[in-house]
Amino acid sequence: MSAYRTSADPQERASEASKRPRQAPPRLGSVTTPPIAPYVHRRVPLDVGGRRLEFATCLDLFSSHQVDVGSRLLLRTIEPVLAARGSTGGARVLDLGCGYGALGVALATLPAVAAAHLVDRDALAVDFAAENARANAVEVTTALSLGLAEVLRDAPEARYDLVVSNLPGKAGATVLSSMLLGALGVLAPGGLVAVVVIEPIRDLVASTLSRDDIEVTLRRDTADYSVFHYGPAAGTSFPPPAEAFDAGVYDRGALPFEDANEQPAAITTVEGIPNYDRIDVIEAALTRRIPRIRPGQRVLVSNVAQGYLAAYVRSAQPEAHVILVDRDVLALRTARRALLALGAVEDRVEMRVIGAWSEDSAADTNPDLVVGVLHEGGGAPAVEAEYSGLVAALAPGGRAVLAGGSTAITRLLAHALPPGCKASRTKHRGTSFLEVTRAV
Ligand SMILES: C[S@@+](CC[C@H](N)C(=O)[O-])C[C@H]1O[C@@H](n2cnc3c(N)ncnc32)[C@H](O)[C@@H]1O
Repeated sequence: MSAYRTSADPQERASEASKRPRQAPPRLGSVTTPPIAPYVHRRVPLDVGGRRLEFATCLDLFSSHQVDVGSRLLLRTIEPVLAARGSTGGARVLDLGCGYGALGVALATLPAVAAAHLVDRDALAVDFAAENARANAVEVTTALSLGLAEVLRDAPEARYDLVVSNLPGKAGATVLSSMLLGALGVLAPGGLVAVVVIEPIRDLVASTLSRDDIEVTLRRDTADYSVFHYGPAAGTSFPPPAEAFDAGVYDRGALPFEDANEQPAAITTVEGIPNYDRIDVIEAALTRRIPRIRPGQRVLVSNVAQGYLAAYVRSAQPEAHVILVDRDVLALRTARRALLALGAVEDRVEMRVIGAWSEDSAADTNPDLVVGVLHEGGGAPAVEAEYSGLVAALAPGGRAVLAGGSTAITRLLAHALPPGCKASRTKHRGTSFLEVTRAV
């Protein structure tokens, strides 16, 4: 039997969320645009409004082979709607879940569009979107946002004439519904939401939008996708949505584990991050390699996922300062919440969002210990960039314990290290663990 327990009914959670006052999400530190070169898989074309754009893609981002067929279908349905507004339309566009920026950057080139704001919960996606806009000489703004949380925090009064989204197909019903309905709450009068979804969730989307206060103005189905254009029905309007994460919209349930003192503990896991119902075996193996942590030491946990590793570290040394590092805002907020729920004081928990790594990404964090599972989805140069950034961050006398696939770790062992650093490897059932120490 699974150790996972479900919490309250998702529909109840979504509806409770809409009644709660909105609270600001915690800040994640400044976001810069680092070089994305190690992460680039290929450059793919997209023709829009008579212009050819080119997008750098990444193996670890949505649709790395070409611009998604669904995104192109969505664009084709939007172009005539915007053309009808004419070049004086001055439309403000929000691209929710922008990935590497295909929709938002393409729309920003159209004469009817005055401004495009591109957001994603994934900092690597935001880095790519910003760079793709720059490389195509298209002006947009980009930001990290979990759903609409940071959009509303940063510009509470901003309203959009068009909200577009190629909705995440695996987000789960409650999150999807909060994105579909939440978008209505940031529309300007007369505004439109235009989304594309994959076939397996088209009925769910159709039923979510089937309400008296919503008017669906276009639906286009292909074998694999559905596009919906919709807005508030005549005479209705929607308030800005509640802060979804705090309201539990992403929650899956409590996941119990045995902490470093062999005591029972639990974390609340979320939808949209792997291993919501079981402890990741690689993270579990990593905990057995964590050296003794002394009070006051700084521990950087990289790739925090559901927060298990960070929670384990904190149980090993409650007086440690924990620096949570991830590219995903949802993972960071989930891990931070886990630590606070287990009794950590806010001052000892820091969040750092890093998309594309460079050597100085975490240079100011100064950790005595780094633990984490390397991201391998972006290819070998991306793994090397992350590894270099993590090792460069180590304080004198510090140590890093990193898990990865054997091929990746073999390459990293051949990688030049900063002066005074030494690396060694151990193996456990197909996973390798790389230990790097830095001389005092
Ligand atoms: C299907 S992809 C679409 C990407 C891009 N718009 C395109 O058309 O290629 C969905 C994107 O939504 C992002 N996403 C998923 N859940 C999100 C959330 N709750 N808030 C913000 N972005 C989210 C993912 O990181 C991913 O980049």
